[in-house]
Amino acid sequence: MAAQTIPVDDFDLVIIGGTGDLAKRKILPGLFRRLCAGQMPETARIICAARSDFTQDEFKSFVREALEKFVKSKKKNKKQIEFFLERLSYIKLDALGDEGWEPLAKTLRKGVIHAFYFSVGPSLFAPLAERLLKHKITNDNSRIVVEKPFGRDLASAQALNAELARSFNEDQIFRIDHYLGKETVQNLMALRFANALFEPLWNSQHIDHVQITVAESIGVEGRGAYYDKSGAMRDMIQNHLMQLFCLTAMEPPATFDATSVRDEKLKVIKALDPILEVDIVRGQYRADGDSPSYQDESGNPDSTTESYIALKANLSNWRWVGTPFYLRTGKKLRNRASEIAVVFKDPPHSIFADSQDLKGNVLTIRLQPDEGINLSMTIKEPGPGGMRLTEVPLDMTFAEVLGDDELSIPDAYERLIMDVIRGDQTLFMRGDEVEAAWGWVDPIIKNWEEKQAKPAPYDAGGNGPDDSLMLMHKDGRRWREV
Ligand code: BG6
Repeated sequence: MAAQTIPVDDFDLVIIGGTGDLAKRKILPGLFRRLCAGQMPETARIICAARSDFTQDEFKSFVREALEKFVKSKKKNKKQIEFFLERLSYIKLDALGDEGWEPLAKTLRKGVIHAFYFSVGPSLFAPLAERLLKHKITNDNSRIVVEKPFGRDLASAQALNAELARSFNEDQIFRIDHYLGKETVQNLMALRFANALFEPLWNSQHIDHVQITVAESIGVEGRGAYYDKSGAMRDMIQNHLMQLFCLTAMEPPATFDATSVRDEKLKVIKALDPILEVDIVRGQYRADGDSPSYQDESGNPDSTTESYIALKANLSNWRWVGTPFYLRTGKKLRNRASEIAVVFKDPPHSIFADSQDLKGNVLTIRLQPDEGINLSMTIKEPGPGGMRLTEVPLDMTFAEVLGDDELSIPDAYERLIMDVIRGDQTLFMRGDEVEAAWGWVDPIIKNWEEKQAKPAPYDAGGNGPDDSLMLMHKDGRRWREV
């Protein structure tokens, strides 16, 4: 089934940090695919800006290589790549000085949308916003896109919001959480609000608990310096897992627009109970044969930063009181697998033979790999011999239903960049939402820092620390195998 694309209006997109890893792996390949899909207008232009001394030709070779490596589509061909490269240019820019800003101002066309993607560290967000204003490069229709991490605690996020607000209105600031751009995450909203089947059951009367897992098999690799100052709490829980949690738990918004959706997500965060120390497990992977430990990889032999977290979150509101949400994420685990599993309550009474326990249905929204939706059902085993029951999956793997070409299921960044051009903030975090999320995790992190708490070691390639199993066992539940 071919994806339908609605072309966006003409634009000039400036990627500041345009030679960085994110630009190379995600932003530029994503734009290329949108051009191939007919969504990026042929007149649109991409201006990459960075500190390096690149000639235009050198820069184009750099992008050509990136596309060869990071675009897998069978439909990619040399002619298309050259056509894409014609839309690109490079400017040497000093984020903290004045070099490059006048040429940038002259390059931008009048009468088209201007978007500025800050693909740089957060310490540069405010200086960049100020320079755009000082050099009169922006107007009320310009947008800025900022990457995570958005601050490292509540105070720094508030300060950053205030600094950006000096140059831009909230409706011009697009705070990216790329998990919101994942197809399956958006499908969670379609599943809940475009089908009448689940919503009547979507509450503590029928749902026993929810498990949200984002497991990675890779370690911190070359990102040790950044990661060691963040840890899983700041890097994953405060943003990606919190967003998945909000979309699962929120009330139906009246309409699918930025204000309504973000209002509902904010209400979820505000209804969270403070987290108890006994309801959270921190871990750090240790060395295993040839596989280095977290401390080796991060370059900090005494590091107490966590590479794994499992926690139980409770909501105090009518819909969810009594239904816990278990969240876990970690690096160097057995598999790369992310999912939201909604575990329904067991049937209240079995009319079948005593030996047959009836299990609650589990609705799984799989983010990666093999994006799709799965509902476990109990059926009768085929054949004679009485009423033997068995569980089977009702499985919808998107690639099978929708086709697995990259142009059919776009990468998260593609969708989000097109939303920036459209001016649609529904899948971006609002300033108050980010602050509320920090407000919830801050006391936990502060407590660890004060106590100099050490994370529990776990084996690379396993399921995380044993304590995380206990987190579930003490509630009479167990983690799903992912
Ligand atoms: C990033 C984190 O935001 O998300 C990384 O900084 C993490 O540590 C990554 O690996 C996971 O994203 P994805 O899309 O590969 O699940």
